[in-house]
Amino acid sequence: MALQARTLRCSAGHSFDLARQGYVNLLHATVPKGTADTAAMVAAREAFLRRGFYAPLAHALAARVEPEQDRLVIDAGAGTGYYLTHVLDALPEATGLALDVSAPALKRAARAHPRLGAVVWNLWQPWPVASGVADLVVNVFAPRNADEFRRVLAPGGRLLVAGPGPGHLADLADDLGLLDVGTDKTERLDAALADGFRLVDRADVTDRVTFTPDDVRDVVLMGPNAHHLHRNGLADRLAAVTDPRTTTTTAFTVSVYERLG
Ligand SMILES: C[S@@+](CC[C@H](N)C(=O)[O-])C[C@H]1O[C@@H](n2cnc3c(N)ncnc32)[C@H](O)[C@@H]1O
Repeated sequence: MALQARTLRCSAGHSFDLARQGYVNLLHATVPKGTADTAAMVAAREAFLRRGFYAPLAHALAARVEPEQDRLVIDAGAGTGYYLTHVLDALPEATGLALDVSAPALKRAARAHPRLGAVVWNLWQPWPVASGVADLVVNVFAPRNADEFRRVLAPGGRLLVAGPGPGHLADLADDLGLLDVGTDKTERLDAALADGFRLVDRADVTDRVTFTPDDVRDVVLMGPNAHHLHRNGLADRLAAVTDPRTTTTTAFTVSVYERLG
């Protein structure tokens, strides 16, 4: 695709206008309700991440990049671009591509970093990316399409995957009756990547944090529980949180895979 003024054009004659906020929507199909993060979830996510509770994960990702090698970085399921921004700050020469099915999320991502482009796309479809061009793919709490990881990464390129670690927000989940946060399905991921990848590093990043009632509401409302607020009275339980200090654990598992040549 070539960018002419504020329109992307492909050789087959299709054209896609850049939105005012700087992202482009290449998706011409609808996705099932509950797939994309809504504007309210995105607002909660941005407010919560801004307070720094998940900064240890952002730093863990940024510490695992390779400045000599990483030129094109794709964040698959980038949300507001919080993690991709940290990764790009660690890679002064790199360009970032944020893929996500949520336009409200990408409105924020598009403005989050000067070297970041943002494209609305469904990760379960073949990505709008040529084969073997990416040096680094980042995937944080987002759908994992192993076939596309394999296709878009250049030989020697790396895949950084992060998800919930053991005990992530466990106290909150018990108190509020949240959907199972689950630990990361690392065995399943290892199996899906057995062909064409080598696991080079796996680390748990944990912290004890203290939340205000607003922090509690935002961390719940930015995730999948937001799609089920009126089931089991969760909205009422959230509204009733008044304890000024709720202490809980954040736990993330970060896996680094290398794309074999
Ligand atoms: C839990 S959020 C994580 C966002 C970001 N990585 C972060 O941690 O802040 C999951 C993201 O995946 C996106 N998503 C869910 N299903 C998707 C799909 N099929 N294709 C593209 N994005 C999807 C959602 O819109 C949301 O932004």
